[in-house]
Amino acid sequence: MHWIVCPDRQAQTKACAAIIAAQVLQKPDSVLGFATGSTPLATYRELIDLKRAGVVSFELARTFNLDEYVGLPIDHPQSYYRFMWDNLFAPLEFRPGQAQLPNGMADDLGAECARYEREIESAGFIDLQLLGIGHDGHIGFNEPADVFSKDTHVETLAERTIDANRRFFATRDEVPRTALTMGVGTIMRSRRILLTAFGADKADVIREAFCGPVTPRVTASILQFHADCTIVLDSEAASKL
Ligand code: PGA
Repeated sequence: MHWIVCPDRQAQTKACAAIIAAQVLQKPDSVLGFATGSTPLATYRELIDLKRAGVVSFELARTFNLDEYVGLPIDHPQSYYRFMWDNLFAPLEFRPGQAQLPNGMADDLGAECARYEREIESAGFIDLQLLGIGHDGHIGFNEPADVFSKDTHVETLAERTIDANRRFFATRDEVPRTALTMGVGTIMRSRRILLTAFGADKADVIREAFCGPVTPRVTASILQFHADCTIVLDSEAASKL
């Protein structure tokens, strides 16, 4: 694992954006894996600035997102589809079809998961996957479990995740209980991984995931076995290493 510990959030953001931009500069038709949540937002703003400054073009890139809630229409303000188009894809002037997310409104969710997995495979798998980390150690929506999940699947969200996501919904009852998520196997098949975190509230889980045993109870710990994983932290998230 490669570690980049930055003095502050701004440096953490710039480091992540530089790694993603460098990937696309080296391979303009890269397949990128993107994530939602508060963690990548500033990185996305930085990528938009780099694109507008003419430093990097995403025209030939393709993207796959990690996950999507089950049962939220794509135009729901909290759907991950909407999050990605508002915060990244529209400002980058993506064409329809350039970006894919699993469809949480599909009638047959199992078939949708299999379709998503096939799409990733036929794109040649993911060159660079961006990841945040949940307080329970999840990557994507792969919650603590007895075994590591393999492929894209339907996941029941942990109570702790529902609590964390509650802030985006009017009531706790409105938070979806299930989501479609790439599996740990899907994520591990990415050629490069970029996991990033900021803030003191992530310090414990960063230590648990990367300084402790590899266990499906802390899903991100599997990344210790990935051949090309870079972890970018601000000093607070790194404070318990
Ligand atoms: P956050 O979520 O970026 O909103 O902290 C991270 C995650 O749950 O993977």
